[in-house]
Amino acid sequence: MTMRYQDIDWDTMWRKSRADKSWKKKKSTDWDRRAASFAERNIDSPFVAQFMSRIQTEPDWSVLDVGCGPGTLAIPLARKVRQLTALDYSAAMLAELDKRADAEGIANIRTIQGSWDDDWEKLSIARHDVAIASRSLSVDDLAGALRKLNNWADKGVYLADRVGAGPFDPDLFAAIGRDFQPGPDYIFTVNILYSLGIHAHVDFISLDPHRSYGSREEAIQSYRWMVDNPSPAEETRLTAYVDARLRQLDETTWQFTRQTAPQWAMIWWQPKVAL
Ligand SMILES: C[S@@+](CC[C@H](N)C(=O)[O-])C[C@H]1O[C@@H](n2cnc3c(N)ncnc32)[C@H](O)[C@@H]1O
Repeated sequence: MTMRYQDIDWDTMWRKSRADKSWKKKKSTDWDRRAASFAERNIDSPFVAQFMSRIQTEPDWSVLDVGCGPGTLAIPLARKVRQLTALDYSAAMLAELDKRADAEGIANIRTIQGSWDDDWEKLSIARHDVAIASRSLSVDDLAGALRKLNNWADKGVYLADRVGAGPFDPDLFAAIGRDFQPGPDYIFTVNILYSLGIHAHVDFISLDPHRSYGSREEAIQSYRWMVDNPSPAEETRLTAYVDARLRQLDETTWQFTRQTAPQWAMIWWQPKVAL
């Protein structure tokens, strides 16, 4: 029997793949705990420049950033637009964002503590010119989240979505002897958008496999978050994995080389009226 594209139920396949992923979905309190270290690793990461070079905004536009985290993109975007609304369900992430915005004298960001699932009208979130969701599509209803973003933006919606293992390093899991199922990646998102009548653009953000750290401990920390509740034996193997790929360049520079370079898909479209 020939399979036809129209017969593929991307939404059901996405739910199945999501149910099979080996990592646990994080709660807002998990993100609270990780806020400071996430901010440190991500605020000036090479990902930011690559995302920023692909997004189009005008100085008088407004931007809604869903799952904004510590302001990885909210802060550089706020410098380029009239107003930015930063939505996240983690109070600690929003506190990191406020701290950085204050330090940099940025006064056009409105932070709102809220979730993908909340009623955004009740949170007084109006339509913006642009809506973004970067590395924050960890939702139970992807089609619903995509519709929502579409309906809250007039001129553009931009996503950064996972490619394959996303931020995880699959070789680490092989090295520590733990099964790793990454769950669904961007190809589901593109196809679910297609089923909603949206023909999205796709580009890729490829990051350097080398990353520099200020200390060995910092490099180990940047790997530790990947493994939920590591056993003592897994901890030891994780440290050995990092050490084997770490090279000290000078007193304060340690370079880590990944075998599989991290990649993100950047997906964007011009919103359709109310989906
Ligand atoms: C990986 S971080 C990404 C942060 C930032 N957008 C970036 O690209 O660096 C994911 C963020 O999404 C937030 N988040 C996850 N699930 C959420 C939900 N259901 N509602 C609101 N925010 C959520 C987390 O609190 C966290 O700040």
